[in-house]
Amino acid sequence: MNGEIRVLSDPVAVAEEATHRCLAMMAKRPGKRFSLALSGGSTPQRFYRRLSEPSWHDRIDWNLLHIFLVDERFLPLDHADSNFRMIRETLLAHVPIPPSNIHPMPTDGTPEDCAQRYERELRMFFGDGPARFDLVLLGMGADGHTASSFPGHVHSDERWVFPVHDSPKPPSVRLSLGFELINQAHHVLFLVTGQDKAEALDHLRQSRQPLLPAGRVKLGQGELAWLVDEAAWNGGASK
Ligand code: 6PG
Repeated sequence: MNGEIRVLSDPVAVAEEATHRCLAMMAKRPGKRFSLALSGGSTPQRFYRRLSEPSWHDRIDWNLLHIFLVDERFLPLDHADSNFRMIRETLLAHVPIPPSNIHPMPTDGTPEDCAQRYERELRMFFGDGPARFDLVLLGMGADGHTASSFPGHVHSDERWVFPVHDSPKPPSVRLSLGFELINQAHHVLFLVTGQDKAEALDHLRQSRQPLLPAGRVKLGQGELAWLVDEAAWNGGASK
């Protein structure tokens, strides 16, 4: 497995550690804007709720923080299964972030059109500078998928944002950041909890050339860290 691995007791400890690390990264860039790309799913919700608590959110200059999406289910942004809706409900609705700093993936056109629109928004944000997120927060599915890149599904890595039409994890239509953009980030933090992730994590630990999408996150100049709980780490230990 690439990067630092930190095994923590349980999902609460993982969320706590992720919060500490995120604030430490921001503290290293005082007065500078900070671009944070967030994943959906259930694992990161504890972290988002933690970040929204006054004891933590008072330590963040929300005028400098820009929130992007790692991937999105292709649904209305107020749909119960929308990643953006989850992130709004667990974090954005509770913190003083300017609306112009919130960058949801559009889902109000065709998937291809929306992918191109989001790429244009990213290019405008990064401007002439390097397109490097300060932090990308990733989850991992039990099948080893990450973002909306799934095993056996071939996508062009070079595309910053691509549509998915056959996601095995419903809904089948999604948008996702590509690995080229993810792998340019300054920091990537995987949050992986639960015994159902143990087999995929074990594969990543054991194989030199992991075939799983999560194994394709390899940072050039950035720092990759895995925050995993004991159930995900020990639950799949080779017998
Ligand atoms: C999504 C997520 C997805 C997620 C993994 C892990 O749209 O579902 O972005 O990539 O990170 O499926 O999901 P859990 O955290 O719910 O296990």
